[in-house]
Amino acid sequence: MVPAWLWLLCLSVPQAFPEAQDAELSVEVPENYRGNFPLYLLKLPLPHEKAEGQIVLSGDTGMAAEGPFAVDPDSGFLVVTSALDREEQAEYKLQVTLETGDGYVLWGPQLVIVHVKDENDHVPQFSQAIFTAQLSQGTRPGIPFLFLEASDGDAPGTANSDLRFHILSQSPAQPSSDMFQLEPRLGALALSLEGSTSLDHALEGPYQLLVQVKDMGDHASGHQATATIEVSIVQNTWVPLEPIHLAENLKVPYPHPIAQVHWSGGNVHYHLESQPPGPFDVDAEGKLYVTMELDREAQAEYLLQVRAQNSHDEDYTEPLEFHVVVMDENDNAPVCPPSGPLISIPELSPPGTEVTQLLAEDADAPGSPNSHIVYQLLSPQPKEGAEGRAFELDPTSGSVTVGTAPLQAGQDILLQVLAIDLAGAEEGLRSMCEVAIMITDVNNHAPEFTTSQIGPVSLPEDVEPGTLVATLMATDADLEPAFRLMEFAIEGGDKEGIFALDWEPDSGHVQLRLHKNLSYEAVPHHKVVVVVRNVEELVGPGPGPEATATVTVLVERVMPPPKLDQESYEASIPISTPAGSLLLTIQALDPMNRTLRFSLVNDSEGWLCIEEDSGKVRTAQSLQGAQPGDTYTVLVEAQDTDEPRLSASATLVVHFLKAPPAPALTLAPMPARYLCTPRQDYGVVVSGLSEDPDLASVPSPYSFALGPNPTVQRDWRLQPLNGSHAYLTLALHWVEPGEHEVPVVVSHNAQTWQLLVQVIVCRCNVEGECMRKVGRMKGMPTKLVAMGTLLGTLAAIGFFLILIFTHLALARKKDLDQPADSMPLKVAV
Ligand SMILES: *[C@@H]1O[C@H](CO)[C@@H](O)[C@H](O)[C@H]1NC(C)=O
Ligand SMILES: *[C@@H]1O[C@H](CO)[C@@H](O)[C@H](O)[C@H]1NC(C)=O
Ligand SMILES: *[C@@H]1O[C@H](CO)[C@@H](O)[C@H](O)[C@H]1NC(C)=O
Ligand SMILES: *[C@@H]1O[C@H](CO)[C@@H](O)[C@H](O)[C@H]1NC(C)=O
Repeated sequence: MVPAWLWLLCLSVPQAFPEAQDAELSVEVPENYRGNFPLYLLKLPLPHEKAEGQIVLSGDTGMAAEGPFAVDPDSGFLVVTSALDREEQAEYKLQVTLETGDGYVLWGPQLVIVHVKDENDHVPQFSQAIFTAQLSQGTRPGIPFLFLEASDGDAPGTANSDLRFHILSQSPAQPSSDMFQLEPRLGALALSLEGSTSLDHALEGPYQLLVQVKDMGDHASGHQATATIEVSIVQNTWVPLEPIHLAENLKVPYPHPIAQVHWSGGNVHYHLESQPPGPFDVDAEGKLYVTMELDREAQAEYLLQVRAQNSHDEDYTEPLEFHVVVMDENDNAPVCPPSGPLISIPELSPPGTEVTQLLAEDADAPGSPNSHIVYQLLSPQPKEGAEGRAFELDPTSGSVTVGTAPLQAGQDILLQVLAIDLAGAEEGLRSMCEVAIMITDVNNHAPEFTTSQIGPVSLPEDVEPGTLVATLMATDADLEPAFRLMEFAIEGGDKEGIFALDWEPDSGHVQLRLHKNLSYEAVPHHKVVVVVRNVEELVGPGPGPEATATVTVLVERVMPPPKLDQESYEASIPISTPAGSLLLTIQALDPMNRTLRFSLVNDSEGWLCIEEDSGKVRTAQSLQGAQPGDTYTVLVEAQDTDEPRLSASATLVVHFLKAPPAPALTLAPMPARYLCTPRQDYGVVVSGLSEDPDLASVPSPYSFALGPNPTVQRDWRLQPLNGSHAYLTLALHWVEPGEHEVPVVVSHNAQTWQLLVQVIVCRCNVEGECMRKVGRMKGMPTKLVAMGTLLGTLAAIGFFLILIFTHLALARKKDLDQPADSMPLKVAV
C-alpha cells in the first residue's frame, strides 16, 4: 500500500505550473484503498486571492454531485473521502471553479480526471460449469470444435483479466491421454494430431475433460476456476455427393432444394462456393438450394464446394465437391450467320459449283438433337416447267451449289433458307436465313450484226475516198459494258484496201468508207466481208455466222466521151474511084474496151458510106459531079453503143483528084473482071505480056494453061487467043458467085510463071449482066447485045470473035478512060 504522503509528493508536481490552469488535470486513485480518509489527491492550482470566493466542485454530467470527492478549502487539495471500486466506476470527471456568492466565476473551471487503478480483486469465471460438444470423426486436428467462455471482472487489457485455459485431465485417457489440445488464450478446444488419427480408426468416447481458467496471464500466480467438458464422438456423415443434373429453365418455386449435406459434429455452419459463381445457396441445416432458373447456354456446369466450418470459419474437414450439370432444353432457335458481302457467281457456272456454305448456329447443347440443324431451301422455287432449280442446298451441310437451271447475268437472287433444329422435326425451332447472290456476266455472247447482207450499194466510179458506203450495226447480248466493246475488221473482198472501217470504240455502229478510188475497169463489183469481234476474250463457243456481214458494192461505170484517133481526117481520091472503094478507117483513140457506132452526119451528096462497127469509109457510088481539085467535107460521128449520149465527131475532108492514067498491060496484079453466072457467052482475056521491053520484043509465042487444081480445071476453061493473049471462060454452067482467083500458068521463052487472074462471078440479071446495086456496070454487055450474042453463038464463034476482038481493041485505044479488061465481047451478027 502506497503511503499517503508519497501520493502527496507525487501529486504536488502540477503545483509548480500554476499558469497551466486551463490544462486538464488527472490523478489516479488505487481501487479498494484501505488507508485513512480523506485521501489527499491533488493540490489545485487556485489563485492566492481565493479568500474572496468560494470553491465549487461538481461532477461531470451524470454524477449528481461531487460524490466521494471534496476540496479542502484551506489547503486547496482535492480529496477522496471513501474507497473506490473500479468495477463500479473506473473514471471520474470533476470540475473545480472559484465563484463569488452570487455565482460569478472568478477562476476555472478546472477539469480534473480521476482514474481508478485496478486491483486483481475478481476471480475468472467459466460461462458454464459443464460444456458439451459433439465431435465428428474426420475433424482435422487443430480445428477448434468448442470455444470455452470465461470472464474476469478486472480491468480489461490488464494482467488482472488476462486469462489462460488449460486441460487439467482427460477421461478416459484412451487411446491416448492427449486426445485434445486447448488453445490457452482463446480456449479453443481441438483434436490433437494424435487424437485425430486414433479417432479415425475407431469410434471412441465419450470423453470428459476437466479444464481450468486462470488470470494474470502466464504468471504462475492468479485466480483460477475449473469446468467440465463432455465430448461425445459421432460418426462422420460428410460423404461425397453424386453430380446433380438440373434442367434449365425449370419452372418451380425458388429457392429450390437440390441436395442435402450434413456435418455430424456440433457447432457447425455451412459455407457454399460455386465455381463459376452461380445461384446456389446452403442453409444452416446443410440443405442446398438453387435460387433461380438456370440457363445452360450461359453456364452448362458448376462445381460446388460445401464447407463445414466452426464459428471461426475454419474448415473442420475437406470441403465436399460436386458438379451441377445443367440439362439442355431446346430453348434456342438456330441463328443465321451474319449476312456477309454479296456473293458473286459468274453465269454459266457449271452445276455443282460451290456458292457458299450456310452455317447456322444453335446455342443448345452441341451434339444433341436440340442443336442438330437441318436446312430447307424455300426460295427461289424451281420455275414452272423448268428442269431443275437454280440453286441446290444440301440439307445437312448447308452447302449451296449451282443447280441445273440456267443463271441469268445481272440477276440478284435472294436465297431463303429455313434452318430447323431437332433435325428438322415438326416441333423444331426454325430461323429464316437469307443469302444474297449476284449473277455476274461473262463474255459469252459474241457481237452480231443486225443485218448480214447489205446492198447492193451502187457507187459511181468517181466518188471521192472517204465517202460513206454503208453503216453496219451490231449488237452484243452481254451486260457488262466491257464485254460489249467490239472491234471490226474487213476480212475479205478487199485485197486492194479500197475500203476502210471507221467506228467509235463504244458503239455498235461501224461505217464502211471508201479509202481509195474505185475502178469499174479493175473491179466492177465488190463483196466486202466485215467481221465483228469482242475486244475482250470471248468465253464459250466462238462467234457464229452472224458475226459476219457482207456489203455488196456495185461500181457504176463513169465513161469519158470516146475520142477519135485524129481530130480531122483527110483522103485524096481520083474522081474515077469506083463505088465501094475504101478511103480510110476511123478509129477510136480510147484504150478502153468500148464499142462505137460510126455514122456520117452530113453526107449530103451520098458519095460516102461508113461501116457502123468498123469505121471504114468507102465510096458509096461513082463520084458523079465531083470535079478534080474539089474538096468534100463531111462530119463523122462516133457514138458509144452502151452510152449513146457519149459521142465524138471529126471532119473528114476528101480531096478529089484527076483520074489516074490507064495502067499498062501488066502481068500482075491483074485487075478484076466480071463474069455472071449462069454462064454467058463471054469470057476474060488473059494477057501474058510483060512490061519488060526485052522480054516483049522477042517474037515468040506465049503458052497458057490452067493451074493444076482440079476444081479450077473443072470450073474454068482457057483458050489461047493469039501469041500473047488467051481467053478465060466458065467451064461449068453455074459457078458460085464471088471473088475467084484462077491460077494460070504462062510459059514464054523457056520461062514459066503463074498468074492469079481475079474474076468476080456474079449472079446474072435479065440482061445477062452482073447485078449491081448502084447503077449499071460500065462496059458490061446490054440485054440486046447479050441477045445478039446468044444468036451469034450458033455461028462460028471462034473466027468472028477474033476479028471483032481485034477491031475493038483498036477502037479501045481511043478511049483511055475505059478499063481495058472489063470490055465485053461484042458480037456482030
Ligand atoms: C482518184 O481520182 C481522182 C479524180 O477522180 C484523181 O484526181 C486521183 O489522182 C485519183 N487517185 C488515185 C490514187 O488514183
Ligand atoms: C473487150 O470486151 C470483149 C467482150 O466484152 C472482150 O472479148 C475483149 O477481149 C475485150 N478487149 C479488151 C481490149 O479488153
Ligand atoms: C458538114 O459539116 C461540116 C461541119 O459542120 C462542114 O464543114 C461541112 O461543110 C458540111 N458538109 C456538107 C456537105 O454540108
Ligand atoms: C492478040 O490479041 C490481042 C487482043 O485482041 C491484041 O491486043 C493483040 O495485038 C494481038 N497480038 C497479035 C500479035 O496479033
